Amino acid sequence: MTLKHDVIIVGGGLAGLRAAIELKGKCDAAVFCKTYPNEAHSTEAQGGINAAIDPKDKWEDHAYDTVYGGDFLADQDAVEILCSDAPRVINELMEFGVNFNLTSDGKIAQRPFGAQKFHRTCFAADRTGHALLYSLYKKAIELDVTFYNEWQIISLSTKNNKVTGLIAIDKANSQFVKIIAKAVIFATGGAGRVYGKTTNPENTGDGIAIAYNAGTGIMDMEMVQFHPTTIRGTNKLLSEAARGEGAYLINANGERFMKKYAPDKMELASRDVVSRAEAMEIKEGRGVLGDSVYLDFRHLDREIIMSRVPDIRKNAMELLEIDILHDPVPVQPGQHYTMAGIATDIDCRTEIVGLFAAGECACLSVHGGNRLGGNSLMETLVFGRRAGISALEYSNTATFESIDDKLIEKEEAKVKKWTESSKKTELMPRDIRMKMGKVMDDYVGPFRDEKMLDHAKDEIARLKKEFEDIALTEHSNVFNVELQAAYEVSFMLELAECTVASAIDRKESRGAHTRTDYPKRDDTNWLKHIVCKKSNGAPVLSYRDIKITRFKPVERKY
Ligand code: FUM
Repeated sequence: MTLKHDVIIVGGGLAGLRAAIELKGKCDAAVFCKTYPNEAHSTEAQGGINAAIDPKDKWEDHAYDTVYGGDFLADQDAVEILCSDAPRVINELMEFGVNFNLTSDGKIAQRPFGAQKFHRTCFAADRTGHALLYSLYKKAIELDVTFYNEWQIISLSTKNNKVTGLIAIDKANSQFVKIIAKAVIFATGGAGRVYGKTTNPENTGDGIAIAYNAGTGIMDMEMVQFHPTTIRGTNKLLSEAARGEGAYLINANGERFMKKYAPDKMELASRDVVSRAEAMEIKEGRGVLGDSVYLDFRHLDREIIMSRVPDIRKNAMELLEIDILHDPVPVQPGQHYTMAGIATDIDCRTEIVGLFAAGECACLSVHGGNRLGGNSLMETLVFGRRAGISALEYSNTATFESIDDKLIEKEEAKVKKWTESSKKTELMPRDIRMKMGKVMDDYVGPFRDEKMLDHAKDEIARLKKEFEDIALTEHSNVFNVELQAAYEVSFMLELAECTVASAIDRKESRGAHTRTDYPKRDDTNWLKHIVCKKSNGAPVLSYRDIKITRFKPVERKY
């Protein structure tokens, strides 16, 4: 079977939906989703979306907070686009029907969020991503956007470094399908599942790995965001909205320990700073329950909790039987966001002609070494639209090319081997995923050093070897979840390898990348991005200059 569209968008989250809305009526575009748009991970950015919409605020200040918060690794030309376009996006969201919380005089309410000097985060209670996603999905349905739901993309087809299309699996019958396209936009989300403890239930980094496998560069792979507040033992995000509304962190002695680490910003320092502070309190024996600290809401007004963070209360009750009105919640840092991704320019172009990327799978880089909460939702919408514009412009003059049958034959041979292995081994894809997650949690977390990273490198290499013997014990062609997992784990192993290689290479501490053996930021040698490209099955590292437009690097302090 072969399908054909001018532009294929892979991913039905916010970036993909925004690109699709842009393209509707202008070319033949279609969205391919591994599940359904309303299951996309964009719903998990709960606390809000940043924009300088208050007359007393300026987009330039938003840009400075973003660059400063990212420890000066972000590309400032991309940050300027993000922040200057943000107010327009908020108007557009109002037109799409997003139910933002309003002030008593009818303006959009804005809450404080970490590492920002202004109350700049617009929100719909603590379900902002959810509100945005459903509004955009509704809009896409109204516009009659073409969706292919429950399709898994497994590789990109190129000829002479130009996109010719994709190979996908139709999950309903496990058939491999060629999809011929002039242009492809990846909006596939991050790679949180590389870690064991992550707030990302679904994000397996498929688009990032497929782009890497196809030969384009992926960037900032060492920059992994750990969110300071995940509900203990559950990996469930407890939104930064909590701290924005005034909840604070305490250790086993009842002390607000952030005063030692960030006396000015306290709990609203950048996420990397707060996560490290928690990890330090736990390491030095002042944690609670051995691996957590408490987030305390008891001093907050009941009305604030009910109207602004109702889901946080519901989740704490359902998962730990704790009512935040009466008791503090144990929280711990957990992987939350991939600041890395497919290297693109400010128009979302990659090094492969006709391949574009937007949202968490892309690295422009607007977040640098640490992303501000509330900037990811904005990134999806600003750059989802730009990816649509760029793909349209390109596809208007590009031509269709055929896809070589050999690509499908290669995948069929791979699956045959996995299936036949079940006679010899019971090693399942998920066994490797669990081991990989543990290695990444234990050795590539908020604190790293050479010994830990070298160990992680050996372990990931061993798991890649072990993966060659995996077996598919499920042989059905109908929604074969083991087959899906086999591809996902193969992708994540590539990304884990790149993360470790980049973390070994960056011999300094910047943003979320803390090398205890190189504790200082080193602008002389490391004010640059690390790019990984695949060669002979392994990452080869090179460097890309950081674009500095208006903000000179200074030491970051909160
Ligand atoms: O904590 C949160 O609500 C997460 C928001 C974000 O990642 O932008």
